[in-house]
Amino acid sequence: MYNCALLKFKDIVSNDGHLTSIEERIDVPFIIKRIYYITGVAQDAERGFHAHKTLHQVLICLNGSIKIRLKTPIKEEQIKLNDPSVGLYIGPLIWREMFDFTKGSVLLVAASDHYSEDDYIRDYNLYLDEAKDTFLSHSIHE
Ligand code: TYD
Repeated sequence: MYNCALLKFKDIVSNDGHLTSIEERIDVPFIIKRIYYITGVAQDAERGFHAHKTLHQVLICLNGSIKIRLKTPIKEEQIKLNDPSVGLYIGPLIWREMFDFTKGSVLLVAASDHYSEDDYIRDYNLYLDEAKDTFLSHSIHE
């Protein structure tokens, strides 16, 4: 899907467990300025429901599983994250909704910038309006 990708990180396995490291501009395609994590989400709760104007993010499910619905004006896709060595890259102008958090699930997010509410598009109709030029006038089909 346009501006989205699944990234496979190194999984260093030993008898004593797994280790994954993530280096900016090597394992993720941006400089990491912020990390945050989401825990304790009820199984029937849904989060997200926004897009970003400029922010790049990678979502990693460290424990349990989480589903992500990705939307653009021309496509919709659903992805299940359940492997700590896999990251979902989401670039600008992608609408995301997170749901089906299993009990004890942990979602880690690495972001390319500090928190700024100005970078959010939280209204879906406004999102469609702002994104349609990018998707339709540039003939993006994916
Ligand atoms: P939000 O990004 O809407 O969460 P989600 O997409 O998971 O539903 O953020 C929820 C609240 O937390 C909102 O009031 C903004 C605040 N927040 C910060 O203060 N700093 C941050 O880095 C993030 C991601 C959110």
